[in-house]
Amino acid sequence: MEVFSTIESLKKAVSEAKNVGKTIGFVPTMGALHEGHLSLIQTAKQHCDVVVVSIFVNPIQFNNADDLKTYPRTLEADCDKLKTVGCDMVFAPSVEEMYPEPVTETYNFGELEAVMEGPQRPGHFSGVAVVVRRLFEIVEPLKAFFGEKDFQQLAIIKQLVKQLNLNLEIVPCPIVRADDGLALSSRNMRLSADARAIAPKIYETLCGGKNKMNECTIDEVKTYVIDTLNSYEVFEPEYFEIVNDTTLQPISDWNASEGVVGCIAVWLDGVRLIDVIRFK
Ligand code: PAF
Repeated sequence: MEVFSTIESLKKAVSEAKNVGKTIGFVPTMGALHEGHLSLIQTAKQHCDVVVVSIFVNPIQFNNADDLKTYPRTLEADCDKLKTVGCDMVFAPSVEEMYPEPVTETYNFGELEAVMEGPQRPGHFSGVAVVVRRLFEIVEPLKAFFGEKDFQQLAIIKQLVKQLNLNLEIVPCPIVRADDGLALSSRNMRLSADARAIAPKIYETLCGGKNKMNECTIDEVKTYVIDTLNSYEVFEPEYFEIVNDTTLQPISDWNASEGVVGCIAVWLDGVRLIDVIRFK
């Protein structure tokens, strides 16, 4: 496994691999890797000959300076983990390498970002789109792999690819959960032991909501999820929306869309956790 910090050196290695007929799979990350990321790389390995992983804490997608400052940076440990799953190339550029000039480019994803994470994190998805587009242009992969835990991000990346007519396939990958159901996230490591012990109630409550879908309206399921989490007192739900899985617009009737998911953001112990459940 080789680690590259410059665009030029990575591009050279990728083009050498392509010249001998290898296909390139790409997994963009911000590091602090866990089993969820590693499963993306394992999936990428099944689809492509060479897997490139980027590790870059993208400053322009953070709306909170403290969050950016305290975001874990663990390159050495990340590389050790990447070796165990057969990653071929790591791209770990500096901020100056990715953004030699001030960023003036912005993106607007309309309705897709008018809901859920969008209003809570102004500018976040535009910052994600800027870096993902640049990374796609550098790596030029055949396929790129994204987790379904960041469901709205995945929808926005698909839209970005459509909007710019980019020549690659986006492969969605299922959420990886701990044995107790908690969706794996780099943020879980910030939870205290007590908070970590109760955190699985989020997914348990989402499953409880799903079990009610045959006898309850959408509003009733939403109320059940919010009220149940509030009853533990330690949770502060920010939103829980039941949405069309393509447009991400909230629906009020189970039959309004073929694919329906529930997306939640909850504060626990000063940490913002997100999760997703598929209803149908
Ligand atoms: O999901 C992430 O880790 C980031 O948003 C991404 C896609 C690597 C862009 O910085």
